[in-house]
Amino acid sequence: MSPEVHDDIAEVLITAEEIQDKIRELAKQVTEEYRGKDVLLVGVLKGAFVFMSDLAREIQLPIEFDFMAVSSYGSSTKSSGVVRILKDLDYEITGRHVLLVEDIIDSGLTISYLLRYLEARGPASLEICSLFWKKGEQAVPLDVRFPGFEIPSVFVVGYGLDFAERYRNLPYIGVLKPSAYGSEAP
Ligand code: IMP
Ligand code: MG
Repeated sequence: MSPEVHDDIAEVLITAEEIQDKIRELAKQVTEEYRGKDVLLVGVLKGAFVFMSDLAREIQLPIEFDFMAVSSYGSSTKSSGVVRILKDLDYEITGRHVLLVEDIIDSGLTISYLLRYLEARGPASLEICSLFWKKGEQAVPLDVRFPGFEIPSVFVVGYGLDFAERYRNLPYIGVLKPSAYGSEAP
């Protein structure tokens, strides 16, 4: 393993280069899909901020940004589907083309809650771009218009994703060593 990999990481699942290549591809698709339109990117804090920042800079369109912050009740490594809104949108989205930007879809409960919430505000269009999704874990059927990587159903950190608020700044995603969890095993 190369020396720049964090000591707490057991295995790198997707490298920084692979992530950046995928983001260029996704941004190209978004640029083609929304040509001639203004897009409002809605990022789901905190996890999506790293992805949204890289994605946005590759999109060749006029874009605006907004953010929502949500927390799902439950343990730190599994979402319960009960979503609490910590920060709502700053802008009205009625008649806007909204692209919801998510870091990872696991059960899909968080994103389906947000979809219902945003749909009720009457956007002209509403699509999802998620960098990662976990194979076979979705509790609800989801139409992800711009999907990134399918990953195995394991807990990962890096590229915006945290364990107990740490590791968000790693440029790759990886699996933690058991020792890094302390008493709070996933
Ligand atoms: P879902 O509601 O089960 O789809 O969970 C989605 C949210 O849970 C994401 O926005 C993440 O914040 C968090 N999450 C799910 N899987 C992971 C993971 O492997 N690492 C870190 N956070 C995760
Ligand atoms: Mg999280």
